Amino acid sequence: MKTMIRTTFLAGSAALALFAAGGAAKAQGTLVLYCAVQEEWCRAMATTFEKETGIKVAMTRKSSGEFYAQLKAESQNPRGDIWWGGTGDPHMQAAEEGLTEAYTSPNMSQLYDWAIKAHKDTQGRTVGIYTGALGFGYNAKLLKAKGLPEPKCWADLIDPKFKDEVQVADPNSSGTSYTMLATIVQLFGEEKAFDWLKKLHKNINQYTKSGAAPAKATSLGETTVGITFLHDMLAIARENPDVKVVAPCEGTGYEIGSMSMVKGTRNPDNAKKFYDWALTPKPQSLGAENKQFQTPSNKATPLPQFGLDMSTVKLINYDFGKYGSSAVRNALLARWDKEVKSAPK
Ligand code: G6P
Repeated sequence: MKTMIRTTFLAGSAALALFAAGGAAKAQGTLVLYCAVQEEWCRAMATTFEKETGIKVAMTRKSSGEFYAQLKAESQNPRGDIWWGGTGDPHMQAAEEGLTEAYTSPNMSQLYDWAIKAHKDTQGRTVGIYTGALGFGYNAKLLKAKGLPEPKCWADLIDPKFKDEVQVADPNSSGTSYTMLATIVQLFGEEKAFDWLKKLHKNINQYTKSGAAPAKATSLGETTVGITFLHDMLAIARENPDVKVVAPCEGTGYEIGSMSMVKGTRNPDNAKKFYDWALTPKPQSLGAENKQFQTPSNKATPLPQFGLDMSTVKLINYDFGKYGSSAVRNALLARWDKEVKSAPK
């Protein structure tokens, strides 16, 4: 099976190389790419695709929830072609609301089951490109200086001792933070989850727009604790040994980073080319090459050398169908706005 996948991949890359050699010489039109991972990987995706195909890429980087809102706002006059990256829940919501197009790439058979499941569950409107687990990290130097206990569990983060010491993104803009919200609901039940979120609110120094921002802030000493995907914290911890990465003791949720084609794309041929290409090992390896350590969805993409040791993480059985549905995501975000964000500190 492995050999078969590898052979298919090699044949595919040879075809792509041939195409690139002939294609890059003359202009092949454009592609508007909405990119929701870290800037470095987004830029590498745009320039590499451009180089290999001659297709000019106009790339914008935003957070997952922001792109969902943008697709909705632009639905009468779509401007994007491909929405690549970001957590799966808003991609699933966009699929349910008919904001994205069904497409089945010939490269689907090269993917892990979890990536194919996202495609099946949305009748082909989205697909998994990577996965990663949620958690938090802390700055050990700051922790010691402030005499704070080592946090190991979600429950530790609501200790009043951590007042103004925790940072996380806003779940409206950030898929990371929505993953936290949905994870806590799945772990504790909705009522207890909102009690936890209200207590956490008292400890929050800032709700950032982007999900990975608290990792950088933890390293810079702007916050003691940052809640992010573990691969984002790991990337920062490699550069700053004071940053410690924690997989919460109660268990945690995870993301299926996803890709969707925008409904009414103006460049359907180029959108399909990008979609097929993005499912192959080369662009998926651009993540690790740019210090992004998610687990890629193509079985032939090497696992990032500095990725997370998943045996250290207790994963919940995250219900993407439920928490990526329009009704549940809208209701949880509305409740969070009303009861948590606007609550006094
Ligand atoms: C980072 C992570 C990705 C994740 C994304 C979500 O880039 O590395 O794995 O999908 O954040 O971003 P957001 O800003 O929506 O939380």
